Amino acid sequence: MGAQLSPGGGKITVATLQQLKRQHQPIVVLTGYDYPTAQALEQAGVDAILVGDSLGMVVLGYPDTLSVTMDDMLHHCKAVARGAPSRHLIGDMPFLSYQVSPAEAVRNAGRFLQEARMDAVKLEGGREVVPAVEAIVAAGIPVMGHLGLTPQSVRKLGGFKMQAKSPEAARRLVEDAIALEHAGCYAVVLEAIPDAVAELVTERLEIPTIGIGAGRGCDGQVLVAHDVLGLFQGFTPTFVRRYADLGAEMARAFGAYVADVRARRFPGSEHGYALRTEDRDALIDAARLAAGGD
Ligand code: KIV
Repeated sequence: MGAQLSPGGGKITVATLQQLKRQHQPIVVLTGYDYPTAQALEQAGVDAILVGDSLGMVVLGYPDTLSVTMDDMLHHCKAVARGAPSRHLIGDMPFLSYQVSPAEAVRNAGRFLQEARMDAVKLEGGREVVPAVEAIVAAGIPVMGHLGLTPQSVRKLGGFKMQAKSPEAARRLVEDAIALEHAGCYAVVLEAIPDAVAELVTERLEIPTIGIGAGRGCDGQVLVAHDVLGLFQGFTPTFVRRYADLGAEMARAFGAYVADVRARRFPGSEHGYALRTEDRDALIDAARLAAGGD
């Protein structure tokens, strides 16, 4: 188990994750977006929490991740950092926060560490983002790459579809992965690609690969917490395993509250602030006087 590499509950670092790869131990990552979820993830012993820009879809209700801003990301990253101080924390750089220029990329990446107490940032893309990756790494900020289905390019990709299906696309992906490693990435997410391509990349790279819809051959796995919990009603990708149905449980609990209030079953006497009889009588007398009664 990854957490064993961090005896005494110490901070999980980039070095911890890379050691897990060398020891052939699976790296466990989940997304998280708020304080109570971060606390649960810390208790569950995940190695790393990705504050993904998927929050745009599963928390903020957008149809894709394109509308997510730096302010959105920092707001959620701060809450996660307060809830899970010992996990490795990765802040996802939103659309247009790193594509415009390497200087802007460094400034925005720095905000994740300086303002939101993240340990690293993630960004999407292959060779085209190498200048940004190099600049951010040169500023002392660890960068996780992201290849395959890169949701910020959903318009270019034509939907949330499996990638690297043709021999040519698979070759490009392997080359992109090598370029990201050379640029200084400490790990790379592989999303929605054939298992065989992910295995090849995992063997070829010294840095860990973290798969989502990329098979069992990756060094680690990541899923979106709201998919795992059954909290996202939109769509469930085939690569998700659902471990709970909290969306239905939430609706059931809210429905029970609605019914109780309407039927005057809530609040019960146990939910009020009871007073001793003499205090109560004095209070009622005072209230009557104030209301102009006798
Ligand atoms: O934004 C996100 O949650 C991600 C994961 C799906 C890897 O990028």
